[in-house]
Amino acid sequence: MVNRTIDTIMRARLPIVVFVALAAFSLAYYVGRAERDGVGYQPEQPIAYSHELHAGEMQIDCEYCHTEARTSRRATVPDAATCMNCHSMARKDAEDIKFLKAKFDKGEPIGWKRVHRVPDYAYFSHVSHVAKGLECESCHGVMEAVTVGRQAHSFAMGKCLDCHRHAEEKLPYLKNPKNGPDHCWACHR
Ligand code: HEC
Ligand code: HEC
Ligand code: HEC
Ligand code: HEC
Ligand code: HEC
Repeated sequence: MVNRTIDTIMRARLPIVVFVALAAFSLAYYVGRAERDGVGYQPEQPIAYSHELHAGEMQIDCEYCHTEARTSRRATVPDAATCMNCHSMARKDAEDIKFLKAKFDKGEPIGWKRVHRVPDYAYFSHVSHVAKGLECESCHGVMEAVTVGRQAHSFAMGKCLDCHRHAEEKLPYLKNPKNGPDHCWACHR
């Protein structure tokens, strides 16, 4: 009797559960799409900050702003304080710099929109690449030539693996490049 009741409930509900799960997955997949495989994805930012000007013309080192790239999982995006090292003096009258100073004074985040996003079920870490000598450019293209931050390369699974299996060809500037791992649990832990 009990078994039959459960059986009936399951028969009625299973298709609904499966449908809801599939719908939720597809929605999450497509909503997250732009950051996931968005080569060329270039969201409008709250401040017209330019890599071309700062990292290109002025040759400020990438790691002056992305301070954790060599030591942590995330490279990090700088907060207003880093910018104010210069902009408490430089271009104080520009609209964007007034906006920057207001954020700094109130202690509020600037609200940079994220350009790249590897989904949570895959593990990526900057330190394990940058500390092994990989250059930012191998994954992010020439940021020194970019005005509004954009995604240069795809980070779909096949693309991670493509470099992991052909390190010598993809990273010709490294002396003795080691291939990256290609077993599932290296990236899905
Ligand atoms: C003066 C500070 C500064 C310097 C120097 C700098 N950046 Fe940035 N970077 C930023 C800020 C601010 C953002 C967020 C706004 C944007 O995406 O344009 C950013 C965003 C990025 C992003 C996109 C982050 C995301 O949301 O996914 C990458 C990649 C990046 N920078 C790489 C570099 C590289 C490579 C260099 C050196 C060639 C560099 N940056 C130099 C400040 C800096
Ligand atoms: C090492 C010093 C330095 C740092 C750090 C720095 N800037 Fe600048 N920035 C400058 C200078 C100098 C100029 C003016 C360049 C020119 O006009 O030739 C400038 C120009 C700008 C402009 C253009 C202003 C205008 O409208 O003329 C913006 C916007 C800007 N910076 C935003 C930022 C942001 C945001 C950060 C932090 C992520 C930042 N800067 C970090 C030195 C710096
Ligand atoms: C092996 C490829 C690779 C290299 C080398 C690399 N990056 Fe990244 N970067 C990525 C990937 C993949 C993401 C997205 C990570 C995520 O969503 O968790 C990313 C995200 C970022 C972000 C935004 C999110 C964060 O981590 O804070 C910044 C800023 C960034 N990279 C800067 C740099 C800088 C600067 C360098 C060089 C010092 C560099 N990257 C070297 C692949 C790389
Ligand atoms: C341009 C080449 C390149 C790209 C793109 C790249 N990797 Fe790697 N990765 C390497 C190399 C080379 C190593 C091995 C470094 C060493 O041990 O000397 C490595 C090592 C790793 C490791 C092992 C180190 C650790 O922290 O456990 C993981 C995990 C990893 N990569 C994940 C990823 C993921 C996820 C992506 C895509 C989002 C990716 N990589 C994209 C070149 C790359
Ligand atoms: C070098 C890192 C890496 C390795 C090794 C790896 N994956 Fe992935 N995998 C990823 C990344 C990154 C994504 C997310 C891609 C995206 O943004 O769509 C992913 C996504 C997936 C997905 C979701 C569907 C898709 O294709 O996007 C499945 C399923 C998956 N991996 C299974 C596996 C299995 C099984 C293995 C072992 C044979 C494996 N992965 C090895 C990095 C890796």
